[in-house]
Amino acid sequence: ATNRTFTMIKPDAVANGHIGAILNDIIAGGFKIVAMKYIQLSQEDAGAFYAVHKERPFYADLVSFMTSGPIVAVILEKDNAVEDFRTLIGATNPADAAEGTIRNKYAVSIDANAVHGSDSDENAQIEGNFFFSYFERF
Ligand code: CMP
Repeated sequence: ATNRTFTMIKPDAVANGHIGAILNDIIAGGFKIVAMKYIQLSQEDAGAFYAVHKERPFYADLVSFMTSGPIVAVILEKDNAVEDFRTLIGATNPADAAEGTIRNKYAVSIDANAVHGSDSDENAQIEGNFFFSYFERF
């Protein structure tokens, strides 16, 4: 079925000039852009977005990194969106990301890993709702 996922182009990829190349790969991968915005997260926003990772040892570094510069937040639509997007971006750690994936091409480290991708339909909906109202989706 056609469904949606949520992604962010993270501060490293923005700072390294990869916004255009990454959007190009996403569109070439068959995804349609439903909503998009260019913003910088506050500590409070990033802390809330990543609340599921609150107890993890990398949480503080993650929040600090994700607030270090602007990000591009995007809702995407495609058949099998969540799974196909995770295939397109590759493993969380770019050292393990398959050749040709977005993280293989553009990520710097496990923290500065170029893009976020929702891990389930349920989280895709929660994450999209965090950033976008009904009137910002097309
Ligand atoms: P993301 O998919 O945005 O969700 C949480 C982020 O935490 C993840 O990408 C990584 O950038 C970062 N992270 C840092 N260390 C780890 C780790 N050991 N396991 C998972 N994610 C990690």
